[in-house]
Amino acid sequence: MIKAYIFDAFGTLFNLDEGLLRHIKHPAVSDILAYARTKQLSYTWLHSLMQTYRPFSEITRIALTDACKKYDAPTELVEQLAPLYFEPTTFEDVLPTLEILRKSSFTTGILSNGTHAMLQSGIQKNGLGEYLDGVYSVDDIGVYKPTPDVYAMVTKSLNLQANEVLFSSSNQWDVAGAAQFGFQVAWVNRGGVFRESITKLANVHEVNVLTDITVVSS
Ligand code: LAC
Repeated sequence: MIKAYIFDAFGTLFNLDEGLLRHIKHPAVSDILAYARTKQLSYTWLHSLMQTYRPFSEITRIALTDACKKYDAPTELVEQLAPLYFEPTTFEDVLPTLEILRKSSFTTGILSNGTHAMLQSGIQKNGLGEYLDGVYSVDDIGVYKPTPDVYAMVTKSLNLQANEVLFSSSNQWDVAGAAQFGFQVAWVNRGGVFRESITKLANVHEVNVLTDITVVSS
């Protein structure tokens, strides 16, 4: 029985604001953001393994700086790009899903690598506060996903068994970590990409639109 619906933030609920991005005039901006995303993730994993935690806002700036260097862009561009992570939009299926869940008795929340400041900023900008019961940030424990301790923040806080939580993420590495922990997991595959071997676990349910998580049963 699912008792709580918990969501990853960046890439699952939150998207970088296309409108704000359009104001940034650099020909390589898409490449810079794609490279920064890859580096941002690998730096979270490296810092967790090295036990040298740095907040996601700092990791993001470092990744953006490296991306600017790679594409010969002025590193001043970081000052324009880093704030975007505090001002995301949501994917169009997010609000309808949260509205359905709010009408039910399920507990809801976000579990993210983002700092509380980043998450609260995105929540406020998009009016999500009234739909969320809890916001869990790795910043409170100083280690990143997919470390099991991160997913355990939810079960400890809500006093639930792992399989009573349905965790939704569009990131396959996060899906793998959450499923390995024992959550029921909805892999939100909006882009119809191929399923990597690491997510082929019985407790992973693929959905193409977030609203479909409300019909996933354990
Ligand atoms: C997060 C990133 C990993 O919000 O998507 O945790």
